[in-house]
Amino acid sequence: MKQSIKEILSEKPVGQEVVICGWVRTFRNNQFVAVSDGSCIQTMQVVVNHETMDPALLKRITTGAAVMATGVLEESQGKGQAVEVRANTIEVVGDADPDKYPLQPKRHGMEFLREIAHLRMRTNTFGAVMRVRHNLAYAIHKFFHDRGFYYIHSPIITGSDAEGAGEMFRVTTLPLDNVPKTPEGSVDVKKDFFEKMTNLTVSGQLEAELAALALSRVYTFGPTFRAENSNTTRHLAEFWMIEPEVAFFDLKDNMDLAEDMLRYVIGYALEHCEDDIQFLQDRQLQEEKSKPMAERSPMDLTTKLKFVIDNAFERLTYGEAIEILRNSKPNKKKKFQYLIEGWGADLQSEHERYLVEQHFQKPVILTNYPKEIKSFYMRVDDGDKTVSAMDILFPAIGEIVGGSQREERLDVLTKRMEEMHIPMEEMQWYLDTRKFGTCPHAGFGLGFERLVLFVTGMSNIRDVIPFPRTPGNAEF
Ligand code: 4AD
Ligand code: MG
Repeated sequence: MKQSIKEILSEKPVGQEVVICGWVRTFRNNQFVAVSDGSCIQTMQVVVNHETMDPALLKRITTGAAVMATGVLEESQGKGQAVEVRANTIEVVGDADPDKYPLQPKRHGMEFLREIAHLRMRTNTFGAVMRVRHNLAYAIHKFFHDRGFYYIHSPIITGSDAEGAGEMFRVTTLPLDNVPKTPEGSVDVKKDFFEKMTNLTVSGQLEAELAALALSRVYTFGPTFRAENSNTTRHLAEFWMIEPEVAFFDLKDNMDLAEDMLRYVIGYALEHCEDDIQFLQDRQLQEEKSKPMAERSPMDLTTKLKFVIDNAFERLTYGEAIEILRNSKPNKKKKFQYLIEGWGADLQSEHERYLVEQHFQKPVILTNYPKEIKSFYMRVDDGDKTVSAMDILFPAIGEIVGGSQREERLDVLTKRMEEMHIPMEEMQWYLDTRKFGTCPHAGFGLGFERLVLFVTGMSNIRDVIPFPRTPGNAEF
């Protein structure tokens, strides 16, 4: 395998011949080619040797062209790099017409880059985001693996709606222009591929629960799909979710696990993505200069990440949070779009952010929500008013984790499902675990892109996934 720029920069085999394969970022003074191969944020400076170089070829060294340069690695005389390659040969492997190539060596707007998402990973910003994303994914697997969790692949096509919110994408092979009907006039799902109604999964939790009741500690890490029409900077129609599930765990164990995991993976990124995070931090500072003082974040990116690692999250109940919110300035001055009048209100992102950013100024875990606003599978608390739910709220993001202790009592669970109109005939397999060897268990879901958003300091979730899917957008 040819060495990557990252490997060459770390080993620095000065005096030896190296081969650099990548894409031209800039070509200065007809002499210095900055080549990126995406292995790290740094480019390699390739110095053209005019004696051995065909002048016709020089014209083809343009921004975006793919090149292969062979030469000796030397200590650099110039500023900005420790080593450079004195090229004997530079082969232009793939041209990039400078009149047509849309990326120029300058700052491009995020909206424009979203339109050319097939090329945007060649920019410094998206290269950095993708490398941090990879490291976070790796750290998540490592965290769980090191603690004896098994990775479960939950199905992507399913017949159930795990969250009971009805925000699902249908999966069907029925001809849309000639849908077979039953004598009663409804869609004849028996004629469909799976002979039943199916959709893309909104969560792997229910299957993870089945696995936890066999393997004790498991997690899923897969794509999930939600057909909610939310055009926000924090919602995607296709996103990746990590869902651990643990047998004999209660809510407190669950909170401890989630906090440990978030600390570990953020710490891993700080340790292993130093250059990329530094670049993203500088980029964020630059971006914030154009914002009014009040909207700028009080901490730079690295400080913010370290702060989360070093400080215990604030834990309080939904009821306590409601009291804080009800008495808060923005509520009294009617600054919230949704005013908090009392117990029972569903929290909006403005409330979550107030708690985290203004009141506590650190991540917050809210527990024991009213059962009416939470899913059917959450364990009903004594008193029958609340469930053992937990949401973890982060600065600038709002909810990053949602989880709960699960209802393991068959009678309570079936009663809840009836109340919430969850079709029980379809969920016999789920109820079976409550019939055969049921036990307390708990788990949570971490939205992977929300985590990447937090760690990279980017401001829109569409910019932390290679090809975002949002209402009206499924390009590439
Ligand atoms: O709170 P949610 O809906 O919880 C569940 O799906 C549970 N089954 C998890 C569990 O207990 N195993 O989603 C979990 C997390 C949210 O906290 C959020 O971070 C993320 O998934 N999320 C989204 N991320 C991006 N785009 C969306 N549309 C998201 N919806 C949820
Ligand atoms: Mg949630």
